[in-house]
Amino acid sequence: MRKYYYFLNLKMLIFASKIILKLNDFIYSGHESPIESVSFSWSAPSNIALIKYWGKKEPQLPANPSISFTLNNCKTETTLSVEKKNNDDTNFSVEVFVDGKLKEDFKPKILSFFERIVLYQPFLKEYHFKIETHNTFPHSSGIASSASGMAALALCLMSLEEAQNLEMTSDFFYKKASFLARLGSGSACRSVESEVVVWGKNKSIKGSTDLYGIPFPYKIHPKFINYQDTILLVDKGTKQVSSSVGHSLMDNHPFAVHRFRQAHQNLEKITESLTTGNLDDFISIVESEALTLHSMMMTSQPYFILMKPNTLKIIEKVWEFRKETSLPICFTLDAGANVHLLYPEFVKGEIINFIENELTQFCENNSYICDSLGLGAYQFSI
Ligand code: DP6
Repeated sequence: MRKYYYFLNLKMLIFASKIILKLNDFIYSGHESPIESVSFSWSAPSNIALIKYWGKKEPQLPANPSISFTLNNCKTETTLSVEKKNNDDTNFSVEVFVDGKLKEDFKPKILSFFERIVLYQPFLKEYHFKIETHNTFPHSSGIASSASGMAALALCLMSLEEAQNLEMTSDFFYKKASFLARLGSGSACRSVESEVVVWGKNKSIKGSTDLYGIPFPYKIHPKFINYQDTILLVDKGTKQVSSSVGHSLMDNHPFAVHRFRQAHQNLEKITESLTTGNLDDFISIVESEALTLHSMMMTSQPYFILMKPNTLKIIEKVWEFRKETSLPICFTLDAGANVHLLYPEFVKGEIINFIENELTQFCENNSYICDSLGLGAYQFSI
């Protein structure tokens, strides 16, 4: 009998995770919030896209599907402390502390995030929020913290919602956290749970949706377990083109329609490589995606070159090294000059030697960050 219930529960769990939630499912239906004061802490990772999200429509919906590796070491740790307001003030009340210092300049971003999500969490107006946040990677590293930062905050807000609705399922908790994070920064919805995350509807990925990220629904080949990502810091400055400006370059871009179609095809191809372990195909799709992202920026109006001479030197060295050694290393790029080197754990020794001997000379102050595939966000206590 017990066994029967176990299977029934397991079946219900699998069924629940396959349900695609719709926009209205995320609208909060509770009433007055009963919580007076509480705090929650979440750590959320950064992620690196293999198939790139580039181009969006309102409200922060992707023009094409994307897939990413979740990182393990580069993350944001956030503590959210809330106090119920004792007045009828209907404005949001927020203070943001970064590394222990009050940051007025971070406030507008949080306020516009709250504005976007208040429909889904109306209780945001009932509290004063103190947000204390810290990144494990240096501020001046050229690594964007919006994905990990928005994901950590969305998870804290979901903990607050869960405290008011104890019947919430964990499936709903994570889906809504990803949904809210997406409204803060698109790629943040891929920083919530699981090692490999798909965001954006694609006909061959079960459960995929534009509204939130989902764990890659197939088993990844053992070659990808603990896959490495070494980030070469070519340019530690802030982004030359902000994400919002960058995405808007895809509106009326002459190659947009073709690019969006290609992203669907590349997602289907990379799904195959991730499940079969075909590293040659994986490498060629990942590098082509990175170069396509940059070529979209080079051919938009206005146009930009976001690589630096040292980015190209590194790419050439990687190609030379791969030809000589046949080791499965490849690069990918964000919308900037830094280079992410992706490779399986079993070649780590050789690759780190190569980086130390031949690539650090192209990095600002010889700096690089070693990271690898991580499991997703987690709650912690302080
Ligand atoms: C090049 O998620 O930073 O890193 O939705 O405007 O916040 P917003 O953009 P953002 O864009 C990330 C773009 C990218 C590719 C990717 O991560 O898929």
